[in-house]
Amino acid sequence: MISQVRPDGTLRHLITLEGLSRELIERLLERSQGFVRPLGARRPDSDSLAGFTVANLFTEPSTRTRVSFELAAKRLGADVVNLEVQLSSRVKGESMLDTVFTLQALHVDAMVIRDAEAGVTAAVAASVATHVSVLSAGEAHVSHPTQGLLDALTVRQHKERFDNLSIAIVGDIRHSRVARSDYHAFRTLGCPDLRIVAPPALMPAAEEFAGCSRHNSLRTGLKDVDVVIMLRIQKERMGQADLPDADRYFAKYGLTPERLTGARPDAIVMHPQPMNRGIEISSDVADGPQSVIRDQVRNGVAVRMAVLEEVLTGADTE
Ligand code: NCD
Repeated sequence: MISQVRPDGTLRHLITLEGLSRELIERLLERSQGFVRPLGARRPDSDSLAGFTVANLFTEPSTRTRVSFELAAKRLGADVVNLEVQLSSRVKGESMLDTVFTLQALHVDAMVIRDAEAGVTAAVAASVATHVSVLSAGEAHVSHPTQGLLDALTVRQHKERFDNLSIAIVGDIRHSRVARSDYHAFRTLGCPDLRIVAPPALMPAAEEFAGCSRHNSLRTGLKDVDVVIMLRIQKERMGQADLPDADRYFAKYGLTPERLTGARPDAIVMHPQPMNRGIEISSDVADGPQSVIRDQVRNGVAVRMAVLEEVLTGADTE
């Protein structure tokens, strides 16, 4: 694995949160918070990335993540190009390198990659010139580091600290890159009680999520937690061996207002979206007073601004 951090401690690439120091993650959250603005307020007046070019290379569908990377880059004055290039099938061939060299020749300074195949982002990062940064926008089931950061930022805004929190991640943990990046973020930030809650068929392998407690029951999983993170249940997986159908899933694992009463009264509810209302979460909860799902979307732009600025300009742009 190539190093994501420069010798001076600044972030160069962001492929996974695994292995990043608490100090670096906290600095990124602090920097992100500086970009959060109330809705309706003018966007921050900054052109710290003027003269840089960011390429979005998405080979998997995405709305929020792609748009928020694009807005983040534009709000800091960078140029943005969106390209649909197939990197996956070429990961070992020369054409991936051709794509990388073409983008570099076009003066692309940051490549933002979403790909369904594990390893593509790291392979590109290993091939780029030293002035180019590579950012993951979601890699297979493995990682989604900016989602992990925006989830941590959202929790921090509402709970302030991590070292006294109970956090439950609920749903299709096994296939979720969001769950893996959240896990690395919250563990590194010192969360003492991290729980994963899923039907047996959607639990990850035993060696993953070390230090988390595992719950097949939503009731025990949610008991007295401060934060509930619901994941999308991937409908295409329903009906597979020992996984209940949508109605039975909702009956057992769907988050309803009544089920949420098992958590702390001031618990917040999160979801990375897209949501399946009526399958993993009821609309009453998704749109209810404890939901901070829209804050997550707003924070996504702030986090991507902070990460782009850090990788392209280093720790300090003042
Ligand atoms: C997630 C993703 O694509 O990993 N969405 C997102 O980026 N906000 C979650 C999902 O698709 O379930």
